[in-house]
Amino acid sequence: MKRAYVETYGCQMNKLDSELAEQALSEAGFERADDPSQADLVVLNTCSVREHAEHRVVSRLGRLKPGSPLRKPGSVLALVGCMGQREGERLFQVAPHLDIVTGTKEFVRLPQLYDQARAGRTRLAALDLSDDFEYARDPRHRSDRHKAFVSIMRGCDLHCTYCIVPTTRGAEESRPLALVVDEVRRLVDDGVVEVTLLGQTVNSWGKQLPGAPDLADLLAALDELPGLLRTRFITSHPNFFRDRFWERVRDLRTFCPFIHVPAQSGSDRVLKRMARLYTTDQYREMVAEARAAIPDVALASDWIVGFPGETDDDHAQSRAFLREVGFVQSFVFKYSPRPETPSERRFDDDVPDAAKDARCNDLLAVQDELALAQSAREVGRTLEVLVDGPSKTNEARLSGRTRRNKIVIFEGPPHLAGRLVPITIDRASTQTLYGRLADAPAEDAAPAPPAAPRRLPLIPG
Ligand code: 5AD
Ligand code: SF4
Repeated sequence: MKRAYVETYGCQMNKLDSELAEQALSEAGFERADDPSQADLVVLNTCSVREHAEHRVVSRLGRLKPGSPLRKPGSVLALVGCMGQREGERLFQVAPHLDIVTGTKEFVRLPQLYDQARAGRTRLAALDLSDDFEYARDPRHRSDRHKAFVSIMRGCDLHCTYCIVPTTRGAEESRPLALVVDEVRRLVDDGVVEVTLLGQTVNSWGKQLPGAPDLADLLAALDELPGLLRTRFITSHPNFFRDRFWERVRDLRTFCPFIHVPAQSGSDRVLKRMARLYTTDQYREMVAEARAAIPDVALASDWIVGFPGETDDDHAQSRAFLREVGFVQSFVFKYSPRPETPSERRFDDDVPDAAKDARCNDLLAVQDELALAQSAREVGRTLEVLVDGPSKTNEARLSGRTRRNKIVIFEGPPHLAGRLVPITIDRASTQTLYGRLADAPAEDAAPAPPAAPRRLPLIPG
């Protein structure tokens, strides 16, 4: 019996790719190993977004040398994903004990590459980005019983100057609507109740497809699947909510009013140097349109602090913008120059690390303050919560999420996992709400799902 161990770095897209890699390996007869020392094939699925992510992988590679207690004798070591795509065969110099390198598409060929490696071929690289990527997903291969990621597009056509992703994941391709709906239907048949649609600029989905459908069309199609309770999507770009997007999704039963739409900076000068293609005023307009249709929409952002040339004044503008928009969640990153990106070629990384740290902490402190005030406003309300299962910090309690993506902890029987329940909120901290099961329906409950459609004969008469 062959066993494979897959370790994942980076974003949700990478987590999904790891599930696809595990599926390909399982179809080829591999069992899953929970520890590298038990595995015939060790796979690191890597991220290149910041230097730190790559350093972690390089040090992990160092610890996975043959002969180490972490390796089974004769096992094969593969590096896949963004770092593989970016560095390619150069990685064999960094880590001569690596057997296989693949990129962000060809990882599905791992079983064949493993066989070749076992047959004595070493240093195998599979880095094609051009292949049409369509992979029949087996709904059983997922890490969560009730939730699943679904890739609706791959790649990115934008050129944000700091970003490595266009290099590592290639040009934008959307998956056809019918394929996505079919994949979600099969996941729902297997017990999934919430899907998160994934794409680098997920709200530009569809423009290359026949008839140019958009994300609102896709969300509406998914809304008709009776067993599906919630849809989410990440990550959006502020410029691509078009054609009355907000009005069209607002009343969908499964739509969750939590949108991750990174601002990256609150300074127009910095946004221009980042080539983000919007100004703060344009971002404000997007927010105004969203709130006109959905007053309680929750917005989350990413921020890069210490971008080349960012002054104290630029940073103060980011802080003011975070407060003005009233984001509910922020992911803050220190600028990391990525090889051969436009910002790395054009600008010096001139903001000292200490200033980056201070700016990072500053934005996080403002965000914490906002999040605590927002959470406190939920106390006393009864909210609709989708139960994930036992809480990680206290197995005796359950954990779930509101439609606006706040974590809620409460007491209840474990069989509620995967169900929507009304929870009255008693107490709030920055990240988490605490409450109890309510008798009355939630104030923000979504409409009930439609009854299953009656099956009509395919050929009338
Ligand atoms: N340095 C720091 N942060 C970056 N991000 C992307 N590229 C870089 C970089 N070179 C951040 C952005 C993006 C998130 C996924 O990572 O904020 O939205
Ligand atoms: Fe995901 Fe970007 Fe990291 Fe690739 S580089 S794994 S796309 S975050």
